[in-house]
Amino acid sequence: MPEVRVEEAKRFMEDSLKAVGAPEKEAKAHAALLLHADLTGHFSHGMNRLELYINDIKSGATNAAATPVILKESAATAWVDGCDGLGATVGNFCMELAIRKAREAGVGIVSVKRCNHFGMAGWWAQKAQSEGFIGMAFTNSSPVMVPTRAKHSAMGTNPISMCAPADDGDSLLVDMASTAVAIGKIEVQIHKGEPIPDGWALGPDGKPTTDAQLAFDTGRLLPLGGFEKTSGYKGYALSSLVEVLCSGLSGSKATYNIRSWALDSEEGPPNLGQCFVAIDPNCFAPGFGQRIADCLCHWRGMEPVDPTLPVLVPGDKERSNAENTTKKGCITYAKGQVDALNIMANRLHIKPVEIL
Ligand SMILES: NC(=O)c1ccc[n+]([C@@H]2O[C@H](COP(=O)([O-])OP(=O)(O)OC[C@H]3O[C@@H](n4cnc5c(N)ncnc54)[C@H](O)[C@@H]3O)[C@@H](O)[C@H]2O)c1
Repeated sequence: MPEVRVEEAKRFMEDSLKAVGAPEKEAKAHAALLLHADLTGHFSHGMNRLELYINDIKSGATNAAATPVILKESAATAWVDGCDGLGATVGNFCMELAIRKAREAGVGIVSVKRCNHFGMAGWWAQKAQSEGFIGMAFTNSSPVMVPTRAKHSAMGTNPISMCAPADDGDSLLVDMASTAVAIGKIEVQIHKGEPIPDGWALGPDGKPTTDAQLAFDTGRLLPLGGFEKTSGYKGYALSSLVEVLCSGLSGSKATYNIRSWALDSEEGPPNLGQCFVAIDPNCFAPGFGQRIADCLCHWRGMEPVDPTLPVLVPGDKERSNAENTTKKGCITYAKGQVDALNIMANRLHIKPVEIL
């Protein structure tokens, strides 16, 4: 599989965004978000998403030069208009605002409408954690999840994320779609030419499929948990929770009204809703960082069923992937992914991505 130096992947992301008019600062911020996904092993949300952002800027659905506007605020809350800005522009604006409020009021909750896709939800939660706060971030998305008992899609992959600081620089990072997986993981399987596991998605006949292309084209992902008998209604319930915090608070579109999922949509701005939260643990019982560190230590120290597979805590996989990739200095992409990038490079008249 092709290997690309980390710096080269970053260069390619920034060049692509700048080629369609993104200002330097926004292109860099957005590339940092995407690069983080590839470093942590979430290839669904790194280079794989670049084409979506490029197409949306070109079609005018995303205004890469937009600055978000605060519409209403109190000591601990803000309602923001994202003005169709790039995901990283809006994410940085809103999480920085939530952190500022948490510093003053103990908690900051920012709800924002007119957003675009903001990549890994956990990137935003981590931003608050790196400053000593508990961070949370949520977004709604295009309707690709079939609610339990429904025939058609109406909910999104609506991710949930929370990052909590622990003593000694450790942390807990929960960052997950409310579907079995993010839809981008199906795209990654297409790029690799491999099937998807049973239980991720349905085909047009309403039966589970392992055909990645058919699953992507059909757009009917199962909620986290799968069918009703395996508690899939809980994934559906989590997705509805995200909807309350995102479209409910912000006045954005609700998932069932959001444009259909496509890498080259002609349906205009998606008008997603997002929610960013920062909580100062110092407002509560003393010793928060130590208690979280104790939990992490206890869970990691449990006897595993298979001694070669130690018990992990949420966030461990991403941390170790990032350490390994950074040490190696290069990222391994699927061949189909690199081919697609080079077709795009040609279209944008930028230097193709250099393979090692
Ligand atoms: N912007 C959007 O619209 C959108 C939508 C959906 C998902 N996403 C993003 O896609 C990414 C992938 O989501 P996903 O649900 O497909 O990821 P996933 O299925 O890999 O789950 C990831 C979570 O599970 C934890 N985890 C994995 N293995 C574990 C183990 N053995 N023990 C303990 N914890 C473990 C990870 O640390 C992480 O918190 C996330 O960053 C998410 O925010 C974004």
